[in-house]
Amino acid sequence: MEEIFPEVFLIKNKLATKNPIPGYKPFDEELIKLNKKEFRLWNPTRSKAAAAIKKGIKEFPIKRGSKILYLGAAHGFTCSFLSNVIGKEGIIYAIEFSERCFKELIPLCSKYKNIIPIIADARKIEEYFWIEKVDIVYCDIAQPDETEIAIRNCKEFLKPNGYLMLAIKSRSIDVTKSPREVYKNEIKKLKESGFKIIDWKTLDPYERAHAFIIARF
Ligand SMILES: C[S@@+](CC[C@H](N)C(=O)[O-])C[C@H]1O[C@@H](n2cnc3c(N)ncnc32)[C@H](O)[C@@H]1O
Repeated sequence: MEEIFPEVFLIKNKLATKNPIPGYKPFDEELIKLNKKEFRLWNPTRSKAAAAIKKGIKEFPIKRGSKILYLGAAHGFTCSFLSNVIGKEGIIYAIEFSERCFKELIPLCSKYKNIIPIIADARKIEEYFWIEKVDIVYCDIAQPDETEIAIRNCKEFLKPNGYLMLAIKSRSIDVTKSPREVYKNEIKKLKESGFKIIDWKTLDPYERAHAFIIARF
């Protein structure tokens, strides 16, 4: 077993996080016991953050105690692993606008108390104006104006020198352009808005025609 980023482990070439509630597996993920500790296997075909780590992204800014604004939480698959990484000292403000997904997110948040579920539209930041400033804005909403939405949220909620983690689904942004063109364009928008690109990776073969960008603002 190797700790490749703080609280992110590689066990027999599979990503894993420590399970704070032994026996609990909200997504029917495989659990592994090692050195009297239990780990949850983190499937990179279901989580773009995990795919980016498997693709060798050079920095992973989420660590114990991080405060995260997560846009597009869905039913909480990736949130659940990030919750394990940040531990009790951290917090995830999990924004989701689909009522169906939000309902599925609630049971997870009643177990992992560091995830605060918020039903809101990430385009309408006034709907969650009350949250505190965060270390990381994580954005995975698969919308054509996703980068603009991410930038607006960073300007409002990110601490100075904070990080943006942005998952890009090429087809949601422009089906007429090649994925490479789309990624270059979104990166250009970030740079023009004052972000420094730390690293980015395409996510094939885990997620086809997706990229993951880590930037600092
Ligand atoms: C690709 S899924 C997210 C998967 C999730 N991040 C994970 O890894 O487990 C995108 C989610 O973003 C939500 N979404 C899309 N646009 C949104 C918006 N403007 N505000 C809030 N949520 C949005 C969708 O309802 C959907 O659940």
